[in-house]
Amino acid sequence: MMRVLATGDLHYNIRRSRGPTEALAERISRETAEVLLLLGDIGGRRLEVLAEALRLFGGFGGKKMLVAGNHDLWTAPRGDSLRRYEVEIAEVCREEGWHYLDACPAYVDEVAFVGNIGWYDHSYRLASLGVPVRFYQAKIAPGAAARLSEHRHLLDGMRDVPSRAMEITTRWMDGRHVRLPYGDEAFSEHLAEKLRRHLSEAADRARKIIVGMHHLPFAEMVVRTGNPAWDFATNYLGSEIFGEVLLAQPKVTHLLCAHNHRAREMHRGHLTCRSVGSTYTDKHVVAIELA
Ligand SMILES: [Fe+2]
Ligand SMILES: [Fe+2]
Repeated sequence: MMRVLATGDLHYNIRRSRGPTEALAERISRETAEVLLLLGDIGGRRLEVLAEALRLFGGFGGKKMLVAGNHDLWTAPRGDSLRRYEVEIAEVCREEGWHYLDACPAYVDEVAFVGNIGWYDHSYRLASLGVPVRFYQAKIAPGAAARLSEHRHLLDGMRDVPSRAMEITTRWMDGRHVRLPYGDEAFSEHLAEKLRRHLSEAADRARKIIVGMHHLPFAEMVVRTGNPAWDFATNYLGSEIFGEVLLAQPKVTHLLCAHNHRAREMHRGHLTCRSVGSTYTDKHVVAIELA
């Protein structure tokens, strides 16, 4: 029997998340489990806050593993989110004694742990909102683009934006703070390919595979509320290209993820999928027992 704990969305860089994260870390440090999975959105833009957050779990007796979240790829102007993802977070993990699952799988007895940030490719966008895809790619809803000179060109001379879409003023802040050398679709494909590679390596060595992700690999896990501001944002919750990779590998039994700040559970084929559901102020832990 192996006990695995998963949490995520600590957002330790945000003031109202600090106390709840410290209380969570204390609670987890008192638990008995073989593995702790931390599923991204940990420290935000500053690497020293990431390191500080990881140190809170120093009392936990099992193996500690993490995947990055979109907020962990936020950088200062002229920063490089790909370097942050591939090099800098890996260095912090090494220094703090955490296994960085985005770099390679981890093995405990006959169980493999595979992790991946996941990403979005705009396939979760809700057609009924009437927002053309270029707004999703720019990470700004039409009502917000109208007010900002650097985004107004998305509207100039265009007649394809219905008035209900003009009322949405959401911005997805990855648009300001994540700096990648290619678009979201290409980044998602690159990550899905890496997930496929890690799963096939893990399947050669392990009896079963547990996967941790930040973004949601199945649209069924996305909660839509009917509030257009939130429903616009659900575009950024993930992509099923990751779900397809998971379903193709029969040794994967569990998928644990974060990012939507809502607890969900679903079953698909050989997979049990759960999202942790931590919010900024209310931190949650999911526990699973493996036979
Ligand atoms: Fe988050
Ligand atoms: Fe997130």
